[in-house]
Amino acid sequence: MTTKSSNEMWGGRFASGPAAIMEEINASIDFDKRLYGEDIDGSKAHAAMLVERGIIAAEDGARIAEGLETIRTEILEGRFAFSRRHEDIHMNVEARLAELIGPAAGRLHTARSRNDQVAVDFRLHVKAAFGQVEAGLLAFIAALLDKAEAHAETVMPGFTHLQVAQPVTFGHHCLAYVEMAARDLSRCRDARTRMDECPLGAAALAGTGFPIDRHRTAADLGFREPTRNSLDSVSDRDYAIEFLAMASIAAMHLSRLAEEIVIWSTPQFGFVKLSDAFSTGSSIMPQKKNPDAAELVRAKPGRINGALVSLLTVMKGLPLTYSKDMQEDKEQVFDAIDSLALALAASTGMVRDMEMQVEAMARAAGHGFSTATDLADWLVREAGLPFREAHHVTGRAVALAEEYQVGLEALPLDVLKSIDARIDERVYAVLSVEASVRSRRSFGGTAPDNVRSQIAYWRARLAEDA
Ligand code: ARG
Repeated sequence: MTTKSSNEMWGGRFASGPAAIMEEINASIDFDKRLYGEDIDGSKAHAAMLVERGIIAAEDGARIAEGLETIRTEILEGRFAFSRRHEDIHMNVEARLAELIGPAAGRLHTARSRNDQVAVDFRLHVKAAFGQVEAGLLAFIAALLDKAEAHAETVMPGFTHLQVAQPVTFGHHCLAYVEMAARDLSRCRDARTRMDECPLGAAALAGTGFPIDRHRTAADLGFREPTRNSLDSVSDRDYAIEFLAMASIAAMHLSRLAEEIVIWSTPQFGFVKLSDAFSTGSSIMPQKKNPDAAELVRAKPGRINGALVSLLTVMKGLPLTYSKDMQEDKEQVFDAIDSLALALAASTGMVRDMEMQVEAMARAAGHGFSTATDLADWLVREAGLPFREAHHVTGRAVALAEEYQVGLEALPLDVLKSIDARIDERVYAVLSVEASVRSRRSFGGTAPDNVRSQIAYWRARLAEDA
């Protein structure tokens, strides 16, 4: 479709309208309509300030505010006709405002440009998204803390290289994810504090000769203060890149837990029974229950990391100030916001619902000579061997246990003594999985008492920060 008339907003210089392809590549309304609420809020704050500063008449300001609220209602009720002819959300709203209130609508854009307008809209949107992620992370952390509390004593194998290494408590394992999520939370808060500045009033790029009050509009829109440099104000997208960097890291963390849930829920592991709510059956194999939610959470970094690389690439090498390239900043950010919210909600639900199979975990915790390090430590502590020699002695004990196909704790004392005469019956006290985890009381270690005090620490700290 080729429009015959030239564009209403900037058409003064142009003889004929943009060709269909131009309209298609130029229009952003299909995705930036998501910013309608922010656009209306920004315009209302701007108009109120213009009235206050005597730049436009109070009656015009009132008509503008009323018209903008009518538009908000029309959009909310699905009655607004978004049009590509008006390019983007800013001009769609302004064109409709002109229809509704007539010439007064033309005064709204005094001392403003679409460049600072889109900058403030997008900032408001990303700022709100940081807040939503923070709430999501807090719910996720709360679910993990509850699971950790229920399983402070539950033993499972700890892995390195996905090979059984040493026994750990499941509560401690949950708390590892609490640490990650809490760092993600602090990245959110840190970035949100840094971006809490209002670009509105930078105008096209150089500021304006009108006596505007940027502190007033900044406060009105809930920002801490106005941005300090007009050129930077219209060309900065760091805050969106920081959102995506935070989102990539958070989604990566969630994908690691998701992968563990996939592994734990296999019949071969059998550590967790997934709730029906977060799994699906197979259309052909009746016995199957697939961890689909976990797999999808595991996959989300694909698009979120993609969004980060995409926006970094769009911004790289752009000269100051605004270039139309920057219109390509939105779609992937919106997608990342939605993807991370979903991944967080699904992870929280899975953690809340998962039923740990405590006996299977305990059985697995004893496999693979997981207490071999405890035997070596005992030889150091009780028999005075240097650690390297103790390591060697333990290695021979493991080899014999393998040969007899028993666990270390089932090796008869005479067999152990034949390896090293300094071993006595007290050694059996450290060869059980329970004794092993109880002994690991070093700060940050896996002992059940540590788990309980770490849970108390996090609950107090989160209550304090809230
Ligand atoms: N739709 C544009 C964007 O998303 C709004 C700013 C347009 N400014 C301009 N000078 N063309 O970036």
